[in-house]
Amino acid sequence: MSDSKTESRELIFSILKYNPRDFDSKPGFVEYKLMETAGMTLFIALNQIRSTLDADLSFDFVCRAGICGSCGMIINGKPLLACRTLTSSYPDGKIQIMPMPAFELIKDLSVNTGKWMNDMSKRVESWIHSNEEKDIRTIEERVDPDQADKTFELDRCIECGLCITSCSTALMRHDFVGAAGLNRVARFHADPHDTRTDEDYYELVGDDDGIFGCMSLMACEDNCPKHLPLQEKISYLRRKLVSVK
Ligand code: SF4
Ligand code: FES
Repeated sequence: MSDSKTESRELIFSILKYNPRDFDSKPGFVEYKLMETAGMTLFIALNQIRSTLDADLSFDFVCRAGICGSCGMIINGKPLLACRTLTSSYPDGKIQIMPMPAFELIKDLSVNTGKWMNDMSKRVESWIHSNEEKDIRTIEERVDPDQADKTFELDRCIECGLCITSCSTALMRHDFVGAAGLNRVARFHADPHDTRTDEDYYELVGDDDGIFGCMSLMACEDNCPKHLPLQEKISYLRRKLVSVK
């Protein structure tokens, strides 16, 4: 382990590189060696590799702070946010990085989670549905703080896709809305502004690509960096929708 009091050590990265748009490109691991610095994250390491060893290496980052959800990767076999992962977490200094499956590969470690999330948002009709005509110039309707907290809790999803990439059902069945999609449904179900009924939600996700496709393998919740109560919400929705006649 490296900190300011100990000597730096050499890290060995093995990174999957592939450009699906280049006919000559073949998927394969490329090895890079880098000296570890104190407090080094995968974000820092990958940027150093790109600036000093391989300008062609592609990966995504925006916020560096676990907020934007851009930097999901498979790191030593586990789905993680690279900007929140310290190199010191790997005692032998060997770090293998692959792109997240379940999403369209753009290049190397860069995947198109945005397209997946956009398709999912349309699929679960991720917007407020209301029976009443509202004048947007009027003061917003008051909401009980406890009720608002329940909605905000589920709104903390950063759309990183770690729950999807770690879900066996989502990997096998590309139409499955996954934990991120079901969390979105639970968010609107909890929101008093949305007037959809359980019957309406049943029409939307009451099938094997929705709430009844989840096999409760729990990997979504185990890997969610925001610690969202995904399995609790999926179980709650399933109980609600299974009783719809
Ligand atoms: S539910 Fe969690 S793991 Fe899934 S996309 Fe949202 S923040 Fe990421
Ligand atoms: S760079 Fe934004 S979550 Fe990692």
